[in-house]
Amino acid sequence: MSRDDLLLANYAIVKAATEQLVKHSPKAILIVVSNPLDAMAQTALMVSKFPKQRVIGMAGVLDTARFRTFLAEELQVSVENVTAVVLGGHGDTMVPLVRLSSVSGIPLTELLSQEKLDAIVERTKNGGAEIVKHLKTGSAYYAPSAAAVEMAESILKDKKKVLPAAAYLEGEYGISGLFVGVPVKLGAAGIEKIYEIKLSADEQAALRKSADAVKELVEVIQSKQ
Ligand code: LAC
Repeated sequence: MSRDDLLLANYAIVKAATEQLVKHSPKAILIVVSNPLDAMAQTALMVSKFPKQRVIGMAGVLDTARFRTFLAEELQVSVENVTAVVLGGHGDTMVPLVRLSSVSGIPLTELLSQEKLDAIVERTKNGGAEIVKHLKTGSAYYAPSAAAVEMAESILKDKKKVLPAAAYLEGEYGISGLFVGVPVKLGAAGIEKIYEIKLSADEQAALRKSADAVKELVEVIQSKQ
């Protein structure tokens, strides 16, 4: 089962939960973790009618954690020295950005062959399915919850961490009206800034493709409104 297969079942759950949440906690900041992640964040935004700064999807912290782990394993270095950027929707079309990832500032292309990097990028995209295969039933829970806690902590303690997360875009990266994973600053107000990185033509095309995959799902739920 892919993340996208959960669309209609989880739409009903996220819609009902959001309706209750708005009634009881109208000032909350929502961190959505349900799949398909970007479409469920959009559901929470549509139903809650909260300002976009207060609805955030958890995906990028998890996806970069996997990317960083696979790189650290391959290079036999501390994962703490690996910084990585992943953009796009939380699905098979996510965009791990090799160009902007490094080991203590050393570009990945200096450390690994293109072939190895391609394999790690592919493994990152399929990281969720890899865990599900090990677990047999259910899906990942430890790393997703650790990722959501890191985001919540940055908000609650106003740490202003810059983390990858699904944010509602209105023109950034040439994308409008969709949740897509991008680097954001998380503080007491929720998403306090969206960082727009200059992308190469290939990276931009990959991000567009990923956003289009999110859009297909969002169109299905919009037709249910
Ligand atoms: C994952 C699922 C839960 O990536 O989306 O682990």
